[in-house]
Amino acid sequence: MTLPQRIVDFVNPRAKHQFKGRTCSIRSVGSYVPEKILTNHDIAQRVNTSDEWITSRTGIKERRIAAADQYTSHLAANAALDALKKGDVKPEEVDLIIVATITPDMPFPATACLVQKIIGAEKAAAFDLEAACSGFIYGLEIGQQFIMSQTCNTVLVIGAEKLSTIIDWEDRNTCVLFGDGAGAAILQNRPDSHGLLTTVMGSDGNKGDLLCMPAGGSKNPANGDTIKDRLHYLRMDGRETFKHAVNAMYKAAREVLNRCQLKISQIKHIIPHQANKRIISAVSDRLQATKDQVFINLDKYGNTSAASVAIALDEAAANGCLKRGDLILLVVFGAGLTWGAAIIEW
Ligand code: UT7
Repeated sequence: MTLPQRIVDFVNPRAKHQFKGRTCSIRSVGSYVPEKILTNHDIAQRVNTSDEWITSRTGIKERRIAAADQYTSHLAANAALDALKKGDVKPEEVDLIIVATITPDMPFPATACLVQKIIGAEKAAAFDLEAACSGFIYGLEIGQQFIMSQTCNTVLVIGAEKLSTIIDWEDRNTCVLFGDGAGAAILQNRPDSHGLLTTVMGSDGNKGDLLCMPAGGSKNPANGDTIKDRLHYLRMDGRETFKHAVNAMYKAAREVLNRCQLKISQIKHIIPHQANKRIISAVSDRLQATKDQVFINLDKYGNTSAASVAIALDEAAANGCLKRGDLILLVVFGAGLTWGAAIIEW
């Protein structure tokens, strides 16, 4: 697909001058989800809920749960190896690894460094990024900067979570929503594609309390009281978070469309953060998108936070949904609060 010149001009205004036509494309994607499936019926054995409630309020039917000896770095490395294989890229070619996660193996070293070791990406620099469910789009934007500036030729961006370790399995408000998994993308310059056309990122720290894990950091280091008070688990004001999610995702999506002077009808696929089917419907209705445009797989995996859009992107690609030249809109929202959107020429 040939893009109107005005889009190219907007997208990479520096490209023709400073970067001599360089662009940043997704060369390949990959994903990994653990084998163990936890259904709504399974959860209804533990807390006072039902498959009917969870399905009608969220669209989720089941989610994956990692084994006790399987950590976020393992999920991330499996997704990375899948993306490397599909892109025919060797681990030694990777210059930079960015892992977006809120469930690192441990506070430090960075999970990205653990991934670097597992996959044998010997020359890669590695760091983690924490933007909760928005992490993958933040990672794409950061990775893009390294490609465009020619600091790196190959950047591996991973969204990975073992959320089952920070879920309060006694809290029915949250335990029904989340799952474990990882998705990865390899970024490179591809001269025949516009790649990442534009990205927006946003945040509002005033509303950080809506979705947080109160203890385990410098504010409330782990002690007997924090454990007794169950402060090492994710807490969320679901109703308020829902409202902000719809507004922020809609605005971010509109902004990237406006920047590229694109109509929603020109977008082939919308891949939103897979938090809740009702949030996705509300956002796509406001964008006046059709149902066929919107990719949803949350019924199988629940909300996997930073991994969610990456897993969905890989599944859409594996299903043959994404064709060279298709315009894809990614849109996310998460704790922080954070949000973001991106338009990609596939
Ligand atoms: O990744 C981004 C961050 N997270 C999100 O995007 C999540 C955003 N929020 C949501 O998706 C929705 O707010 C929820 C799915 C979490 C909740 O749906 P809701 O329609 O907003 O329900 P609610 O919180 O208003 O609760 C309605 C009722 C309450 O009972 P009362 O007070 O009306 O008697 C809850 O106690 O549903 C009750 N409830 C449940 N009932 C059965 C809450 N959780 C459950 C449950 N099973 N699991």
